[in-house]
Amino acid sequence: INKGDMGNIKILVTAGPTREAIDPVRYITNHSSGKMGYAIAKVAKKRGACVSLVTGPVNIERPENVNVFEATTADDMFQKVNELYESADIIIMAAAVADYKCSFVSNSKIKKSSNELTLTLVKNPDIAYSIGGKKGDRVLVGFAAETNDIYDNAKSKLSKKNMDMIVANDVTMEGAGFNHDTNIVSIILNSGEIIKLPIMTKEKVANEILNYAVRMYNDKRSS
Ligand code: C5P
Repeated sequence: INKGDMGNIKILVTAGPTREAIDPVRYITNHSSGKMGYAIAKVAKKRGACVSLVTGPVNIERPENVNVFEATTADDMFQKVNELYESADIIIMAAAVADYKCSFVSNSKIKKSSNELTLTLVKNPDIAYSIGGKKGDRVLVGFAAETNDIYDNAKSKLSKKNMDMIVANDVTMEGAGFNHDTNIVSIILNSGEIIKLPIMTKEKVANEILNYAVRMYNDKRSS
């Protein structure tokens, strides 16, 4: 059987948004559909990889023959990824993790009373940053969804989180980012090289990302 070019590679992918509770009936989230991360998981499987997917709450079909782990909050996702990362060769973080959560989650539904309501938010753990600090020879790939100064913002995330490459997209562009089936991205390598890709389906983007990640994986193993 043809196992594909990723036949001996284990890959861990995060996808989707996280959901941070306010009270039993309300939460804070974002527009992530999970499509980009799911496309990566599906394409990696097709290329023969052993795939684990840690997914936030999304409405898309689970890819076949992929180990799927559900996480609701950033804390859940942090815990799951920290349990799974050691056995991965390539880690791709496509999840749009909420930056903040409520400092206090009410046990009962918050009632409408005063004209103003203040929610105090506290920072969530940064999953990519925590893995970046202990990744060893694993290849770490992140995403940066930006509305301005894309390259500067993406490059600073790449170095701060010790990533090997980052996929930057301008979410204000038509046909890019959240909930679309297409994406317009640039891949920034830790060498500083920037590869600007044209508009393409998220599956084709996934293949491009995996091409670079596999090349980096092979380079690390042979050096
Ligand atoms: O800093 P920013 O959220 O834009 O960074 C985006 C990258 O970091 C993505 O790869 C995302 O999955 C990851 N991230 C994370 N944990 C967070 C925030 C972001 O893993 N709390």
